[in-house]
Amino acid sequence: MQWIFGNWKMNGDAALSKALVAASMGAKHKVVLCPPYTLLHTIQGVTLGAQDCAASAEGAFTGDVSAKMLRAAGCEWVILGHSERRQHHAETDALIAKKLEQALAAGLKVVLCVGETEAERKAGQEQAVVSKQLSILASHKPQITNHLLIAYEPVWAIGSGLVPTAEQITTMHRHIAKQTGLQVLYGGSVKPENAAEILALEGVSGLLVGGASLQPEGWKKILQS
Ligand code: PGA
Repeated sequence: MQWIFGNWKMNGDAALSKALVAASMGAKHKVVLCPPYTLLHTIQGVTLGAQDCAASAEGAFTGDVSAKMLRAAGCEWVILGHSERRQHHAETDALIAKKLEQALAAGLKVVLCVGETEAERKAGQEQAVVSKQLSILASHKPQITNHLLIAYEPVWAIGSGLVPTAEQITTMHRHIAKQTGLQVLYGGSVKPENAAEILALEGVSGLLVGGASLQPEGWKKILQS
């Protein structure tokens, strides 16, 4: 049994939510659905996750949602450090470290996303980039093992249809496991057609699925992989 997270990003409505919950029943894997905040309440019977949380516990932060609020809304998990947040919201490792602290303090489990850009891989910097992103874990080491998963998501593979080679995935997963001792998910252009193959790779503890987690038929197939 491996982990399969569905990251809906800013997509979906109540009707799609219903279809995706139905498609999640009877899965071969541990399934976590991560819808937008406004759809959290529509999910029942499947483990729930959020896509982000605030870097502070409470207060004058218009538009933010705290980790404690997410816990109260039924979330067990939160995704942090997704490359789209790093890119579109200028999230730094320092900010992500604060969010991580908030999430763990509120009792949320965390999927921390890491991954290099195409330029960084071309420059042979991928392991150095990922190591730096993982360095925020150093101060948390003892207490995190059961509360944290790492998702390796090369930025160039997200939503692009490009998938790293098996060797690129296993090499990076080995690197991450060596540095953190944690289980590592793969994310980036996972589809019903490639899910089983990726899940079978050494060091892959599961998948973080974006676009393909929004199509009930395909999602069901991924969960049977
Ligand atoms: P994708 O996204 O599956 O659409 O490539 C993955 C992600 O961003 O988590």
